[in-house]
Formats: sequence, structure tokens, C-alpha cells
Amino acid sequence: MSRTLIRGGLVITAAEEAHADVLVDSGRVAALAAHESSVAQAWTADRVIDATGKYVIPGGVDAHTHMELPFGGTFASDTFETGTRAAAWGGTTTIVDFAVQSVGRSLREGLDAWHGKADGRCAIDYGFHMILSDVTEESLKEMDALVEHGVTSFKLFMAYPGVFYSDDGKILRAMQRAAADGSLIMMHAENGIAIDVLVEQALAAGHTDPRYHGEVRKELLEAEATHRAIQLSRVAGCPLYIVHVSAEEAVAEIATARDMGLNVFGETCPQYLFLSTDDLARPGFEGAKYVCSTPLRPAHHQAALWRALRTDDLSVVSTDHCPFCFSEQKELGRGDFSKIPNGLPGVENRMDLLHQAVVDGHINRRRWIELACATPARMFGLYPRKGTLAPGSDADVVVYDPHAEQVLSAATHHMNVDYSAYEGRRITGQVETVLSRGELVIDQRTYTGHAGHGQYLPRTACQYLI
Ligand code: URP
Ligand code: ZN
Ligand code: ZN
Ligand code: ZN
Repeated sequence: MSRTLIRGGLVITAAEEAHADVLVDSGRVAALAAHESSVAQAWTADRVIDATGKYVIPGGVDAHTHMELPFGGTFASDTFETGTRAAAWGGTTTIVDFAVQSVGRSLREGLDAWHGKADGRCAIDYGFHMILSDVTEESLKEMDALVEHGVTSFKLFMAYPGVFYSDDGKILRAMQRAAADGSLIMMHAENGIAIDVLVEQALAAGHTDPRYHGEVRKELLEAEATHRAIQLSRVAGCPLYIVHVSAEEAVAEIATARDMGLNVFGETCPQYLFLSTDDLARPGFEGAKYVCSTPLRPAHHQAALWRALRTDDLSVVSTDHCPFCFSEQKELGRGDFSKIPNGLPGVENRMDLLHQAVVDGHINRRRWIELACATPARMFGLYPRKGTLAPGSDADVVVYDPHAEQVLSAATHHMNVDYSAYEGRRITGQVETVLSRGELVIDQRTYTGHAGHGQYLPRTACQYLI
């Protein structure tokens, strides 16, 4: 394995910023030293990357993706091969995807199926959470075995009755098991039973357009479910991570729990920070491009999300990458918004959009790295192997040009989907070079990676507990 030297950049981690050189040896960060120091000057390497004027940051950790997810009679359009390649283009070097337990099947069968989709195909490293769709005595027992396999987080749904939904009793049982085996419960917090009533009423009134997806999935029903999930986790004594938080009322529930010192954590996604119900209400059927759950909210919610990202009431920004092509897949819901497959593409855009948030003054550079790299790695038991640049860490390194100008577009992105949710948006900053375990995956904006480079990451327990 060769030695690589990344010279002259501004190294940014969640903890600090320094003009330092980074020495990579055998796939790991071997050492960092001040650029001008005699130590760094003496280093030799087979490959030298000049990062003068650039940022040198840890590879992004996207803890919420759905490659090839079966949903609404179709499958998310990115495979593990195309989706992880697109992630690399966008400076993300680790994903944690969701394996799915089918109703009537074991967790192990679901996990094996997801290994079958991913193994040998990924351009970057990957781990799995497990979606519990069928909480039974058997699947509860299986949770412990999965933890041993490095699947240390389980997602439950208070939404989607008849598909992924679990009632409160099942949720409580899974939470009790998580409390015992040290795993983390991830919650899709929306009151799906009440939402389904509103869906039925909306359709009966002839309200079939995409914008009604946002109207029936009310903020209060996200907040109510968030509150209920928190109380159930307190009863069970397990840590809780609320995924894709979009409503300020839900943020308030999480903030209250965190003020009490509870192990309750929140995640939001770029779509809730940069898009709104105005996009869902685009004319014709175009709003279908913006259908995801929780739904996009009126723009005034964004201020509360940004604030919570600064105060750590929200601790992680993931993408919930779940792309469906507009031309064929979103089309399934023309004439009935409830049949539009839920999900947005974004795995390639997260690091750039959050850098834009730095440029716009919402967060500082270290918080960018904390939200996108360090905390997701800690939250999901991957730190310090992932999420930072320290001696011994995997050499997942991004050279980021903070001055480059780019325009996001489906014409230039690498995700396997026929539209960009951010079409035409100007971004200051761009990924230039990406290393995964010391191997060049993107070399000055040329893809040099390969399917099968990515390795499965068994994870330890959450390292972010209070
Ligand atoms: O709309 C979304 N979020 N689709 C993916 C499934 C989920 O609930 O995360
Ligand atoms: Zn969800
Ligand atoms: Zn999701
Ligand atoms: Zn390789």
C-alpha cells in the first residue's frame, strides 16, 4: 500500500482547524503535522496531493440512505453501485443504509438480502440499520444477534399502516429490547393512523394533487408522534433518535427532552432546510418530485431547524436519499397523491448544501463537519475510524475547494434519477479529490473508484449518549 501526502490545506475537523499536512499510509491516517513544521517537511510519499487554498476534511458519513428500497410498488432507483458512486462524487465516503425486515420474515433474512444487494458493489464503505416491520417474539430475540453482527440501530415506523407501521405496544417491546441490548431506536415519527384518515378525506374531496401530501401530513401529527416516541423511550429506558425531523413543533419536543438530559437525538435533512411546500405546490404534477415523508414544510420552519442545528437539539444531517424517477415512478401517483412513491434524491448534494450553509452564515465550518461527519459516526458507532482525521482513522479524506462555483443539475449529477431536487441552485464550494481508505476514488473531479472497493462496516453501540 502506498503512502500519500496531502499538503498545504486547511484541515477541518469537528474539533479544530489547522494548516496541516496529512500523511496517509496503508489506508489510514498516519500523522498530521503543521504545514511549516520540520516534521511535515521531512515526509516523503509515493503520491503528493497539493491542497493549497483548499479544505482537507473527513469524508462525509450519511447515516440515512435507501438504495434499492422497495416502496409503493417500485424500487428506489439508485442501486448500491450507482448510489455509492454518486455519494463519493459528493464527498461522502460512508453510508449507513436501511435493511428491511419483510412482514412474516426474520430480521436475518432481511439483512442477508441487503448484504446480497450491497456486497461487492459499493464504491465506499457501508453499514446497515435494520427496519423492524414485524415485531414478534422471534424478531425481538433476533435484535441481540444483529447487534453482535454490528447492526446496532433499529428503525420503527409510527407511519405507513399496513406496510412498515408498528403500534405503540410493539414499539414499547422493541424499545425494551434495545434498552437491554444497548442498541439505538430510530423513529419515523408521524401519526400514520390519523394521517390515513386525512388522506381518505382529501381524496374523497377530490384533492389529488401532490401538494395535498403536505397538507394531510400535518406538523402537529409529527409533533404528537415525536412526543409519544419520547415518552415510550423513557418508559423503556432506551436511547431514541428521531429521523428526518421537519416541523418546528417536533423540534420543540426534542428540545424539551434534551433539556431534561434524556438520550433523545434528532436528525434533519437538506430538503427540509432548502426546500418547502412551495416546491410541493409547483404547477402541474411537478410537485411529485418533492413528495417525501415527513413532508416539506412551509418555509418558516427552516429558521427553527437551523437554530436547532446550532444548539444541538438536532445533531445530524443525513439525506434520507430515496430517489424515484419523475418520468415513470413518481407518475404512479398522478391523480392520487397517496400513491406517489415517497422520497427525494440527495446523497450527492449533502456536503455541498451544508457548505453553502456555512457560506450563508447558518453554521460554522467545524459545525459543518460535526453535523455531516463526526456526529453521525459517533451516533452510529463508527468513530474515530470514520468522521474525523486523526492518527489511526481510516484515510477517508476529501479535498474541498471552498471557492469553486457550481450549479446543481440532473444534467451533471451522478445519481441514477432523472431530476434534481435542487435544479439550478448555485453552490459555492465543490469536492475536488476523495480518498477512501487511502485509495483515490475521485481524482480532481474524475472518478477513479470501483464497485467492490467499499467494505461492510460492523458498528459498535451509540457513542453519543449523554
Ligand atoms: O419519504 C421518505 N422518507 N422515504 C423513505 C422512507 C422513510 O420513511 O425514510
Ligand atoms: Zn422514515
Ligand atoms: Zn428514510
Ligand atoms: Zn479499491
